[in-house]
Amino acid sequence: MKITFYGQNSLAIEVSGTHILVDPFISENPLSKDKVDILKLKADYILLTHAHEDHILDAEAIAKNTGAKIVSNYEIAMYYQAKGINVHPMNHGGNWKFDFGNVKYVNAVHTSSFPDGSYGGQPGGFLIEGEHKNIYIAGDTALTMDMKLIPLQTKLDLAILPIGDNFTMGIDDAILASDFVECEKVLGVHYDTFAFIEIDHDEAKKKFFDAGKDLMLLEIGESIEL
Ligand code: NI
Ligand code: MN
Repeated sequence: MKITFYGQNSLAIEVSGTHILVDPFISENPLSKDKVDILKLKADYILLTHAHEDHILDAEAIAKNTGAKIVSNYEIAMYYQAKGINVHPMNHGGNWKFDFGNVKYVNAVHTSSFPDGSYGGQPGGFLIEGEHKNIYIAGDTALTMDMKLIPLQTKLDLAILPIGDNFTMGIDDAILASDFVECEKVLGVHYDTFAFIEIDHDEAKKKFFDAGKDLMLLEIGESIEL
């Protein structure tokens, strides 16, 4: 499983020859807009955690360019189906076996409305189990006791957690989240894109290190292999 970071919560995941994009927000992200051409991105599936602009901005353009299927909660799926895009609706607690592996839409504590004000259902995260590697994408969320449910289903290889604070968990809560999901290996996301969520990278890494955990912060376009 190969995971590439495109800023904010935008990720590309390659698993079993399938290309998955998560929360594409690139063309107006000040950190990534000059580095990544959304029309060159491959996608078989686009997973959307919730309807906020910093997660869905490029989903329509990429779906129309690639023919990718959008996977999200029911309300978000219907929003894109009405635009002629292929969708797979899910909702909280539900699993589906895709050709690349199992996906579960899990709880998140946040909000979810589209930039035009239409209803985006309730926000979520994704548990992806594929190619013998299991990852948890928390999406935008507060620290929540529901995270303790994740290890009851799966032994994680990586937890992808927001760390920017203000709109989501900050560093200290992300360290607790990594305890809750029982995964010491964390990829930090949702930081530095805007002034509200700027973080001190060295301090963040030191706090994780002191807690006996590993926080990875990737450059735009940088990948890790699980
Ligand atoms: Ni959000
Ligand atoms: Mn966000």
